Formats: sequence, C-alpha cells, structure tokens
Amino acid sequence: MRNADAGHVGQHLSAKQLGWFDASVPSNIALMKTTMLHVPFVDLRAQYATLREEVNTAVLTVLETSQFIGGAVVEKFEQEFADFVGARYCAGVANGTDAITLAARASGLGPGDEVLVPANTFFATAEAISNCGARPVFVDVDPITFHMDVASAAKAVTDRTKAMLPVHLYGRAMDMRPFEALAEQHGLWILEDCAQAHGASIGGKTVGSSGRLTCYSFYPGKNLGAYGDGGAVTTSNPELIQRLRMLRDHGSAAKYDHSIVGWNSRLDALQAAVLSVKLRYLQSWNEARRKHAKRVASALRNSPILPPELPGHNQHVFHLFVIRCSQRDKLKCFLADKGIQTGIHYPVPLHLTGAYQTLGAPGKGAMPIAESLASEILSLPMYAELSDEEIDYIIVALMEFVDAFAPSTPSKF
Ligand SMILES: Cc1ncc(COP(=O)(O)O)c(C=O)c1O
Repeated sequence: MRNADAGHVGQHLSAKQLGWFDASVPSNIALMKTTMLHVPFVDLRAQYATLREEVNTAVLTVLETSQFIGGAVVEKFEQEFADFVGARYCAGVANGTDAITLAARASGLGPGDEVLVPANTFFATAEAISNCGARPVFVDVDPITFHMDVASAAKAVTDRTKAMLPVHLYGRAMDMRPFEALAEQHGLWILEDCAQAHGASIGGKTVGSSGRLTCYSFYPGKNLGAYGDGGAVTTSNPELIQRLRMLRDHGSAAKYDHSIVGWNSRLDALQAAVLSVKLRYLQSWNEARRKHAKRVASALRNSPILPPELPGHNQHVFHLFVIRCSQRDKLKCFLADKGIQTGIHYPVPLHLTGAYQTLGAPGKGAMPIAESLASEILSLPMYAELSDEEIDYIIVALMEFVDAFAPSTPSKF
C-alpha cells in the first residue's frame, strides 16, 4: 500500500456491476473496505528494490574495470540477448530510435525511398525513417490489435516503396505471415520495431527470431529497461550485422579505418551490465504482467469499457494494457482522482502530428481507425510488481466509473 486515506469504495457498487465479475476475481472484492492507494503508471523503484544487490555489484564491477565503451560486458549482453530472442547476432546501440535508423541504413534505405509505417505507434518509429533520409508513409491500423493493417499497407504500396516497418505494439506479437506475403509480392524489406515486445511470441516463435533486422529499445520503462537509454538490433544475417556494427561506430570495422560515414551510437557497458542482470528476470516479469492483464481483462469482460484481446496463440507481454472507453478523458481524470496514474498511447496518430503535417502527410479522415482509437484508448498501470490489492483497486475504480457515468460501448468498427 503506497498511500493512505480511508473510504469504502465497494459500498457504492450496483448489482449490475457486481455481475461483471468473472469467477477468477474474488467475490468479496467489491465489498472490501479499501483505502485510497497511489498506483503509479510505472514503478521502477519497486523493481530496483528486488534487484538492488545484483545490479549494484554489476555496476561496481564495470566501474572497477573502467571499460565503459565496448568490451566484454557489452559483448556478453549482446550474445545473451541474441540467444534470448533466437537470433544469431545482436548489436547494442544507443537507443531504440537509432536501432531503427541504423537498421534502415544497413538495409540500404535512403532518400527517395518510401517505408510503410503504422499511424498508431510512438513518434520515433517514423522519425527514425525520416532520419535515414527515407519517407515514412502512414498506414491505418487493425481494429482488434491496433497494429498495422495489411490491407491498408497493400493499398499504400507505390513504385517508391522499399520497406515495411510493422510495430509489435503494446507487447503483442504480430502475425507476420500476411506481411511476408505482401513483401514477397512487391520485393520489399521488412524491418520490425520490437521496442515494446521483448520476449513476446506467436505460434511458439519469439519476436526477433525471424532472422530479419529487428529493433529494440531499452528505455527504462520498457519490459527490459536500462538505467538510461539503450537499444539493440538483432538479426541472423552476417553481412547486415557487420554493416550495422560499422554504422554504429563511425563507419569503422577497425579503429580509424572509416570506410563509410556512420554514427556514434553504442550501448555502453554500464547499461549492458544492468541489462544482463535484468534479462534473467524478464520471462518471470512478462509472466506476471500476463497474469495481471488476465485478471483485469476478465473483470471487464461484459462491461462497456473494452479490454485488450487476450490472444490464445500469442504470448502477449503487455508492455501496455490498453483499454477503450467512449468517455476516455473523463475516465482518465476519474482514475487520477483515485490515485491511479494512466497514459495514452498514442493521443495523436502520426500522420496528424505537426511534424508530418508539415512534411505533407494526409489530413484528418485519412486513417479512420487510428484516428478514432486516439480519442478512446487509455493505458492502465501494468508491471510485474503490481500487487493483487492494487489490481483489485483499479478494477473497482473502473466499475465505479461505469456506475457513475454509464459510458456507451465503443463501436467494434
Ligand atoms: C514503438 C517504439 N518504437 C521506437 C521507440 C524508440 O525507442 P527509444 O526511446 O529507445 O529511442 C519506442 C520507445 O519508446 C517505442 O515505443
């Protein structure tokens, strides 16, 4: 329990709401006496508390050896992460945005090329493509997964299209088969943005195991997060990884031998040391996220607040737990008043951002699904360290909201 202030939340619940509870949720939850909690959106201090000794030792070891850039600690993490995702190689880089830019450059993308990018993702997905000189072309998203829609992608292909950049958004692994078929048909590269999907899998295959260039972010709040910025690209292609390693290090394969113009974009040893420790826990953290997600989704099963789909053939890692509500902004304020922090991922579809409007992206109405989701989606707190008490507190708050404001069910599109 993180904060205090007594109050009976359960007493105000209607019978209708009580009827929503799935059998997996304790029947006494709505009747329990509960105090006001503070539930942060992410709680990195709670995670650090579980790792303090191991992380401190790993960091101190780097300080003692003082090999800060490159070296054994970075190489060890790169191999561990490649093994974890099921790829042959991994190159650590400075952040997830650079991971995409460098992967695009290693694939030969540049000025004049178009790359298909979903309209619903973090800005960096498109920004990384712009930074390598190519042009992101936005594509509407699927109404169930909120991922890039393959039919919309097919319609967006032109003579200049060279690649697609699907994003395994929120931690749900995409079914890549229709995208592979489209890529085959038009001779396109596929780069994958896995910044939110460390360890996610579909049909028994972990994202990143395709052998293609796949890009990760280790931003602190990610499922596998560093204690600063960090990123990586994995692949099983020896030529691509060699090119990528040169690009991240001033275009050089050996000191002062600069055969191409590159970047300075390296994962440093302090971050690699932290990541090696955390990687050992990633599977169990992802498992805990799935358990929490199932509990909240089950409780919302018959409510007008729509939970994310829990796909059976897919090990979702719930980097984000995104619900839909017709009165999203009101719900956000309501939860904030109860001490529950939430986020919106993402409030503006990328084609409508100021940056891409200036660069000639299509206007309002061009991506109807992404645009309507942007006003309805809300991300609830989701991390391994959430307690059952906090999860029940969130569920009760959602039920109270429905009782007080009777939101309509968002359309299924
Ligand atoms: C989907 C997606 N792509 C790319 C990035 C960029 O990663 P970074 O912040 O490490 O540059 C992020 C990070 O938030 C992301 O969520």
